[in-house]
Amino acid sequence: MIPKAELHVHLEGTAPPELVARLARRNDLPVPDGLFDDAQRFVYDGFSDFLRAYDQAASMIRTARDYRDVTYEYLRAIALEGAIYAELTASPDHAALVGLSEDEMLAGIAQGIDDAREHGVEARVLLVAVRNFGAERALLVARRAAERPHPYVVGFSMAGEEVGHPAAWYAEAYAVAARAGLGCTYHAGEWDGPASVRGALELPVTRIAHGVRAIEDPALVGELARRQVVLECCPTSNVVLGVFEGYAAHPLRALADAGVRLTLGSDDPPYFGASIGGEYDVARERLGFSDDELRAITATAIDAAFCDDALKRTLRERIALV
Ligand code: ADE
Ligand code: ZN
Repeated sequence: MIPKAELHVHLEGTAPPELVARLARRNDLPVPDGLFDDAQRFVYDGFSDFLRAYDQAASMIRTARDYRDVTYEYLRAIALEGAIYAELTASPDHAALVGLSEDEMLAGIAQGIDDAREHGVEARVLLVAVRNFGAERALLVARRAAERPHPYVVGFSMAGEEVGHPAAWYAEAYAVAARAGLGCTYHAGEWDGPASVRGALELPVTRIAHGVRAIEDPALVGELARRQVVLECCPTSNVVLGVFEGYAAHPLRALADAGVRLTLGSDDPPYFGASIGGEYDVARERLGFSDDELRAITATAIDAAFCDDALKRTLRERIALV
């Protein structure tokens, strides 16, 4: 099995309907009407409605123990698919909405990471701010991360609504995060076009979450390749949400051929019928990547990971052994 590493997955978005329902029961909460269909699949219609469903499901995660279980169950599942490392994007904004402190959220996540280690998978955390919650809130998330370092928190990201929320609004938050030594990535070029990717390149980022719509601007593709910026690509998310009409229209192959460094991620797996193993399969079977290229994608993910060098060395040794 090809060893895998995943840099782009939203932790709250990893909980499948069965787990969300279990947490709702445990917390004595009604599952929001219409969140799942009879086949126990999340129901939404388009990107903004997906974000609504995501917010509703995330609101069932109420305690440190809940965060532990979401983390542990996800890591255990991807270990079975050959994942050796994951960066989990976790949202203090979502935790705050249900009255959970960032410390409690992180304590739960750290416990889940520690408990999953026996399955042969390691993980770290990126804190994410939600763009549509505003620049002030983003600055707060970045400041807290900077002022109260946690050994497992290695990066800062922004997600949420893309269109109408230019990267420049969040420059101060990124300056704070970068100054504190956090690795930085930013969702762009998913729903918004190449200009959003150019905006992201003005931030102190080494990676871009998605970034795939850069393909519409060949000069920008050249710049990404020249600067060796790493794209966290999530083909199934893009196809299911309708960014591209199908895998045949997905630019993963073209970006790789143009020399852009890229990795694979499942984004919000149960919402899209995705998994990290599935993304590697898609890349092989539908997008023309060879096993050697897939191994190189894992190596790129480890190079671009925000964890420390000692962990990177261990991960590289594990890849070499497989
Ligand atoms: N939040 C969770 N998943 C997201 C995505 N794919 N894009 C933007 N924000 C998100
Ligand atoms: Zn994402």
